[in-house]
Amino acid sequence: MIRAAVRAQGAYHFAALPCRVKLDQNESPYEPPEAVKARALKLIAEAPVNRYPELLADSLRAELGRYHGWPMEGVVVSNGSNVLIQAIVTAAGLGQQVLAVTPTFPVYGIQARLLGAELIEVPLEQGFALPTAALTAHLARGSGVFFLANPAAPTGNLYAPEELHTLLVAAGERWLVVIDEAYGQFAGSDALALIRRAPLAVSLRTFSKAFSLAGVRLGYALAQPEVARELQKALLPFSISMVQAAFGLAALGAPEYVASRLAEVRLERARLGQGLAALGLTVFPSATNFLLFKVADAAAFYRGLVERGVLIRRQDHLPGLIGCLRVTVGTPEENGAFLEAAAEVVRSSYATSQH
Ligand SMILES: Cc1ncc(COP(=O)(O)O)c(C=O)c1O
Repeated sequence: MIRAAVRAQGAYHFAALPCRVKLDQNESPYEPPEAVKARALKLIAEAPVNRYPELLADSLRAELGRYHGWPMEGVVVSNGSNVLIQAIVTAAGLGQQVLAVTPTFPVYGIQARLLGAELIEVPLEQGFALPTAALTAHLARGSGVFFLANPAAPTGNLYAPEELHTLLVAAGERWLVVIDEAYGQFAGSDALALIRRAPLAVSLRTFSKAFSLAGVRLGYALAQPEVARELQKALLPFSISMVQAAFGLAALGAPEYVASRLAEVRLERARLGQGLAALGLTVFPSATNFLLFKVADAAAFYRGLVERGVLIRRQDHLPGLIGCLRVTVGTPEENGAFLEAAAEVVRSSYATSQH
């Protein structure tokens, strides 16, 4: 009784190995400040849990509107931005097409396959450049949803606003264009100026990364109010709990902590990049809180790190990413431990290859 499209889809895979140093999920290594957590817990303590929360989380949508200078009618919140990806495919991809580059964030393709949309994956070009000509050709022909992560994941690079503009123009009124800005704060990028002028575009955001709230599961979309209204219908009623709303409100009440942590991520990202390059490894430019790098044998390298208590993420199963691994920028201590372990693994494989 299970649909063939569901049976054919592998489960979302994730190896949660217990390791001393955890750099595998692009989380923040820090909790939000104590004051933010305390404010959230106070809001939760004061809320009547026997009652349903606000239907559309209006208090949080209003705060998000203020934070971004965006009308609250154009804000949709959900239980993580993953859930919005699903809602977007339901609202605009079902019975039509879902267009994405490859490799990219896997949830776009998974949701397209599960919901039976026609998935079109266009390979990135050399240096992870956008395949603009091929994308434009698909946009000219079809209709549905076009997902683009910017900064890109798992490659980490940032596309220029002019490139996005070209694609938005090509998409016209037949495509909902979704710019997934999960890592936007790390790059200092923001697609809202483009989206303001586009009738059919969405910026996806999350509290999971720069806001240090991955455990809360809270994400949102910014779009024209007409688009937001339709996306809202594809979510279930009361789609976030008062617990999630409380954490969102508390974070937006004192968002300064985000900026100071971004500065550390950028410094540490540079240190990690230099450290890996000094080991003779290829490191790809990143505008995010993670780095993609390439080794001779990704499986052996990954195992060597796990044996030394360091967990990162393999990416070598993805098209065009042979030998690639992804490491999240952690605390200075975690990054130091990772670089030390990586140096040992490189030395030991060098020693092995000499025999
Ligand atoms: C590009 C991208 N989009 C969306 C998400 C999902 O974020 P959320 O935790 O809000 O579901 C992630 C998480 O890693 C991501 O990398």
